Amino acid sequence: MNERIKEEPLLAVNNLSVSFTTDEGRFTAADDICMKIGRGESVGLVGESGCGKSVTALALTRLIPSPPGCIESGQVYFEGVDLMTRDASEMRKIRGNAISMIFQEPLSALSPLHRIGRQLVEALLLHRRMAKRDAWQYAEKWLRKVGIPDAAERMYNYPYQLSGGMQQRVMIAMALMLEPALVIADEPTTALDVTTQAQIFGLLQDMKHNFGSLLLITHDMGVVWEMCERVIVMYASRIVESASREAVFAHPAHPYTIGLLQAIPRLSRGRKRLNDIPGQVPSPFDYPRGCHFQARCPHAFDRCRRETPPLFDCGGGQKAACFLLEEKAGGDC
Ligand SMILES: Nc1ncnc2c1ncn2[C@@H]1O[C@H](COP(=O)(O)OP(=O)(O)OP(=O)(O)O)[C@@H](O)[C@H]1O
Ligand code: SF4
Ligand SMILES: [Mg+2]
Repeated sequence: MNERIKEEPLLAVNNLSVSFTTDEGRFTAADDICMKIGRGESVGLVGESGCGKSVTALALTRLIPSPPGCIESGQVYFEGVDLMTRDASEMRKIRGNAISMIFQEPLSALSPLHRIGRQLVEALLLHRRMAKRDAWQYAEKWLRKVGIPDAAERMYNYPYQLSGGMQQRVMIAMALMLEPALVIADEPTTALDVTTQAQIFGLLQDMKHNFGSLLLITHDMGVVWEMCERVIVMYASRIVESASREAVFAHPAHPYTIGLLQAIPRLSRGRKRLNDIPGQVPSPFDYPRGCHFQARCPHAFDRCRRETPPLFDCGGGQKAACFLLEEKAGGDC
C-alpha cells in the first residue's frame, strides 16, 4: 500500500444513511454506510446501477437535494472534523477546495453562459488569495497541464465550443487546480468514447501527485484494477464488501462480488461472453428484510431472510457482509 497513507484516515464515514421521499413513498438509498479513505489512497466504489453510489458520494459533501432527500444519520469525519456539523458557508469553502468532485456530465460543473477562463479564475479567487492576473495565468497553465491545445485561446471559449473530452479536461483542471485533499470522481468518463476514456484515466493517473486521495465511482472493474488500491462494493443501498484490489480480484468474499466479477466480459474461443448475475436488483421500495441479496444468492438460507448480515472481518483488511463468512471471520466490524 502507498507509503503516503498514514494511520489516521483522511475520511471516516460512520453509519451514514440517506432516504428519499417521493410520490410513491419513502425509501432508503444509502443504508448505514461505513467507510474510510486513507491519505493518498485511491478507492473504487462499484455496484450495479441504482445501488446508491452517487447518493453516497453526494451525501459525503452534503449535496443531497432536500427535499426529496434526507441524510437520516451518520458522521462524515474529514481531516478529523464532522462535516455534518458544518454550516452551509463552511461547506462551500470545503467543496471545490479541500474536496473536489468530477461528475459524469461536465456541464453540471461548468456554466454554459460564461467563458472557460472566467469560470476557472472565479473558482481560484473564491478559494485562494491571488491577483486576478496571476489567477488567469495559473488557470491557463492548468489547461495546458490537462492537455488542452492552444490553452491561451481556449480560455476565451464557451464550454459548448469544446468537444466532450475537452470539456471533461476543463472540469478536471477545475477540480484539481486547487490541489484538493480528496477527489470524488463519479463515473467521470461514461459519456465519452473509449479512446477519450482511456486518455482521461491516463490524465487522472498522471495528476495523482496534484491531489491526495481518490474516491472513484465506476461500473468498470478494469478501471478499478488500473486506478485503485482498494475496492468498496455496494448492493441495493448497502456496502457488502471492502477489500484491497488484489483481494477482491483474487478471492472475492461476498457472493455478490463473486457474481460481479464473473459478469465481466471474457474472451472465450475468440468471442466475448457475458455472464450476468441471475435475477434482478429489488426495487428500493421493496428491499427485503435481512440480506438484500437473498433473492439472487445461490447460498441463501433462513437466517438471511430474518437478519441483516454485518460486515465480517475476513482478515488482511477484507470485510464482507455475508453470514457464510461468520465462522471463518474474526468477528463483525
Ligand atoms: N433526487 C432523487 N430523488 C429520488 N430518488 C433518487 C434521487 N437520487 C437518487 N435517487 C434514487 O436513489 C437510489 C440510488 O441512486 P444512485 O444515483 O445513488 O445510484 P447509483 O449507484 O449511482 O447508480 P448509477 O450507477 O446508475 O449511477 C436509486 O433508486 C435512485 O433512483
Ligand atoms: S447473507 Fe445469505 S443471502 Fe446474503 S449473500 Fe450471504 S448467503 Fe447469500
Ligand atoms: Mg450514479
